[in-house]
Order: sequence, then structure tokens, then C-alpha cells
Amino acid sequence: MVKTTVSVIKADVGSVAGHTCPTQEMLEYARKKLSEARDSRIIISYYVYSVGDDIGLVMTHDKGEDNTQIHKLAWDVFKEITEKVSKPLKLYAAGQDLLKDAFSGTVKGMGPGVAELEFEERGSDPIVVFAADKTSPAAWNLILYRIFADPFNTAGLVIDPVLHDGFIFEVMDLRDGRIVRLKTPEETYDLLSLIGTINRYVISRIYRARDNEPAASASTTRLSYIAGKYVGKDDPVLIVRAQSGFPAIGEILSAFAIPHLVSGWMRGSHYGPLMPVSFKRKQNIISYFDGPPRVIAMGWQISNGMLVGVEGNEPVDLFEDPVWDYSRELATKIAFYMRSMGEVMPARVELEEMEYTTLPKVLEKLKERFITTLK
Ligand code: F6R
Ligand code: MG
Ligand code: MG
Repeated sequence: MVKTTVSVIKADVGSVAGHTCPTQEMLEYARKKLSEARDSRIIISYYVYSVGDDIGLVMTHDKGEDNTQIHKLAWDVFKEITEKVSKPLKLYAAGQDLLKDAFSGTVKGMGPGVAELEFEERGSDPIVVFAADKTSPAAWNLILYRIFADPFNTAGLVIDPVLHDGFIFEVMDLRDGRIVRLKTPEETYDLLSLIGTINRYVISRIYRARDNEPAASASTTRLSYIAGKYVGKDDPVLIVRAQSGFPAIGEILSAFAIPHLVSGWMRGSHYGPLMPVSFKRKQNIISYFDGPPRVIAMGWQISNGMLVGVEGNEPVDLFEDPVWDYSRELATKIAFYMRSMGEVMPARVELEEMEYTTLPKVLEKLKERFITTLK
């Protein structure tokens, strides 16, 4: 049985009015390139989206994860958009996430974020792709816990015999790249003690415990570690499979109802609420204090390797429902509240997590003026 792979590869290669949003021309360029790739059978279907200043390529194919041809295609799309559109127009931060010059087999470690999921298609296979801006991969930690391990979010964990057997969480230590697998519900407390430490541990994949069927895959790139210094937000993506033995679409989306605080807002240095937004209503364009951090949700069926949406490959805009207006209002209130604290922690992130800081200079300037008080 041929397996289908969903590859989501994204990058910020420039935007208009600062870090607000890419141009239509950039998105069109990506669509043109992916349409050519589909015609020459490199991919089966595709969709191009944007959230904040990021462009994302959702591609389906039968070549498996980490495939050089697929990664090279995405790399070339971002490189060409940078050279042919962003730079000539002097767009802001043109080519920002392209950190290396020569492609060497994979886009991992080169700047773009990647989430991929290969699976054997069921009789009917719904998926959701989430894409966030102004935050880091750890933004998914609490969300994925709620979806796959919290019975107060996901009724199926209690009611559905298949979900009742639990899930296996793969957690990555971002500092050394090692992974550990933990099974819920048995190891729930161990899992929480790791994933609560958001600047170090992130959930990279989830499998259904009963049969090891892949359930979710997240991008875990940390641009800061690639470049050796902070160079931008990681703005993660996430693929989740739904229904018939996986959490229902409604259970998956419920995890976003109460916006939680994530890091990466304004200058990559602030905590803010993750606001679920509609991409159709153009709520994916950021404005308040370069945020607040936000997430879009795109729903498809996967059918014989194709993305099937509401009209062709156009995904369901899952946060368009007016129910999410309340979450957005709540997120706005939380955002205003957090901003009332200015540069005082915990509104501002820890020193090691900051994009840049003036503290060393301030300390240098004041070094002669510090007086020892302890003998
Ligand atoms: C970029 C971002 C922004 C920038 C800020 C300062 O994704 O989140 O908040 O960090 O606008 O940008 P520069 O330093 O480019 O002026
Ligand atoms: Mg940018
Ligand atoms: Mg971004």
C-alpha cells in the first residue's frame, strides 16, 4: 500500500510594512512554482498560505518524509521569492529565514520550519494543519497535551475505546536534539514536568498507543540554535490527524479556546496569548505590538494523496466560526494586560531567551558604581 506524506515547509522571506505580512506577488510566485512541480509529478497537490510574515507550503506526495527532492523544491521556492520578489522590492527582512547558502539534502537546519507526516490512508482521512506566527515550537506543548492527554478537553479519551489506550508523546530536548518517548496516561506527570519547561523541551511527534499509528507532527526548528544567536521567531507549524480513532476535529480545536501564554512576541522577547484567527477574514495579519501571537487552522481530507478542501484544495477555515470571536476577545484582553507590565518579567522573557538585550552594556557602564555591601 502506497503511503501518503503531508509536508509543511515554511519561512519568512520578507514582508510589507515591517514584519506584518508577505505580498500577494510572493504567494503567487510560490503557487506558480508548486503548480509546475505538480505538473512534473514531484508533488501530488499543494496549498500556499500565509500567517503574519510567514509563507507556508503544504504539499502532498508519495516520497516519504525528509525527501531531498521535496525539501529542495521548498528551498528553491523561498530562495527565488527572495531573489526575484522580496529583494528587488526592498521588502522588509527579505530572505530572513534562509540562513545557509548551499542546499545540502534537507532544509532542516537551514532556517525554514518543517513538519511532515507519512501515513497509510484510511477509508477517510481528515487532517488539520496549524500555523502560528510570533512564537516558538513550544507553543504546541500545552495544546498537544490538551488534545491527546487531557480528558477534560478530549472526551474521546474517556469514551472512545481506541483513544482510551492513550498516546505516545515524542519529546525533544532542543539543546542537544535528543528525544524521549513517554506514554500517556501512565506517564502523564513525567510528560508534564518536561513539556512545562517550554524553553527546552518540545513535543515533536505523537503516535496512537494501540497501534503506533502516527497522529501528529510538529516543526521543532529553533532558529536561535541554528544561527548561534537569535535571528528570528521560529513560528511553528503542526499537522494533526482527526476522527475515527483520533481526536475529533472539534476536540482538536477546543484546545485553543482559552488562549495560553507563549513566548516570541515583539522582538522575540515577550510572552503573549496565542490568538486563534481566521485566514479568510484576514485576521492573519498582525498589528498590535507586532502581534499578539496568532494561529490559523486549515482543515482538509486527504484522498489518494490529494488535499481535498471546500473548493478544490481550498481548506476549511476552522477558526472562522463566531465562537472563536470570544477567544479572540479574551486574547486581546490578556494581550493588553501583559503589555501593562512593559519590560518587567514575566511579561518579558528570560535573559537567555531574548533576541537582543542592552543589559551587558548597562552593566558595563555601571560597573564602577556598584558598591559591595557584604563583607
Ligand atoms: C519579527 C518580529 C518583530 C521584530 C520587531 C523589530 O518577526 O517579531 O517583533 O522583532 O519588529 O524588528 P527589527 O529589529 O527588524 O526592526
Ligand atoms: Mg519577519
Ligand atoms: Mg514570522
